[in-house]
Amino acid sequence: MLALWEAGSAHRLDPDTLVTRGLKTWDETLAGRPFSAHPRLERIGSLWNFGADPLRGELTLYHAAADGLLLQSHVVNVDQLPPTHDFAVTEHHLVFLLPPLILNKDRLESGVSFAESCQWSPALGMRVLTIDKRDWSQRHFDLPPGCLFHVANAWEEKDGTIRLHYMRSEDPMSLLSGWSVMRGEYRHSEGARLTSLVLDPATGTATQATIGEQESEFPIIALDDVGQRYEQVLCVERGPARASDMPGFDQVALVNIESGLSQRFSYGDAWLVEEHLLVAADGEPTPRWIVGTALDVRAENTVLSVFDASHLGDGPIAQARLPYSLPLGLHGTFRATAAPP
Ligand SMILES: [Fe+2]
Repeated sequence: MLALWEAGSAHRLDPDTLVTRGLKTWDETLAGRPFSAHPRLERIGSLWNFGADPLRGELTLYHAAADGLLLQSHVVNVDQLPPTHDFAVTEHHLVFLLPPLILNKDRLESGVSFAESCQWSPALGMRVLTIDKRDWSQRHFDLPPGCLFHVANAWEEKDGTIRLHYMRSEDPMSLLSGWSVMRGEYRHSEGARLTSLVLDPATGTATQATIGEQESEFPIIALDDVGQRYEQVLCVERGPARASDMPGFDQVALVNIESGLSQRFSYGDAWLVEEHLLVAADGEPTPRWIVGTALDVRAENTVLSVFDASHLGDGPIAQARLPYSLPLGLHGTFRATAAPP
């Protein structure tokens, strides 16, 4: 079990006790290189991941087998590499969306925070880099300037066309203004919406369209669909009635990427909804449940909810309420424990 971040090696944990066992470095040449918190596990059990070092302009790529052994690694040099949080894999490619948010080394060394050291440089546009898994060959596509935090997934058609979904915002303000929460201040900036992107290898063009009706984040697909064609993206949303002085999300939604139609459940305005996951029963490919935590701000309790994945709009089929609040998180996973006696 690995605890992941994006500024260095992962940490190994004991899956039963959560005791820290040390760093996971794969091999000595990779020690200290970043290993992102968004690895992608393919259906066959193999893992792809990357680590972005924006100060050196290096993207480290990792490919590990289902048994946990490193199969290959590779370092790609990228000019003006932004801090990169997420990526996508398809059958033959790794796909990176590179927003024009560039880390300014001088600002960072002057002692301001990492977020405040990032400079919005829209003249660069949003660059798309695809890397062929078979020979590390690269292709570049261009998009108008835009920003992102999370990618949902991608797949590749027979003719090589790549279709991808991500949460796109016009600029980085919704990401960067979140830092003011640390000072107890919040004023909302327009956030990201689910966006469909098509990369056409024949013409070298990238086209995109917004499909999300609401501001949203934390896009999730069924684990079995990584790199494969998929129909639905689960995400959390900011409902239209959300007060402008209230951060975060209040709804969970399952969006059909072809029709754009969503089913959704609103927790209510005084809630902070965290990432929800699609959960399948053992041995079944289609997720049966949606599971996630949310903070009930008025009661100051964290609540775990379980929904029937085919009837999200009906509300939770089960809820467990803690008598206290957990710290808000980003991503997580749920692991089955032994059934109670
Ligand atoms: Fe993330």
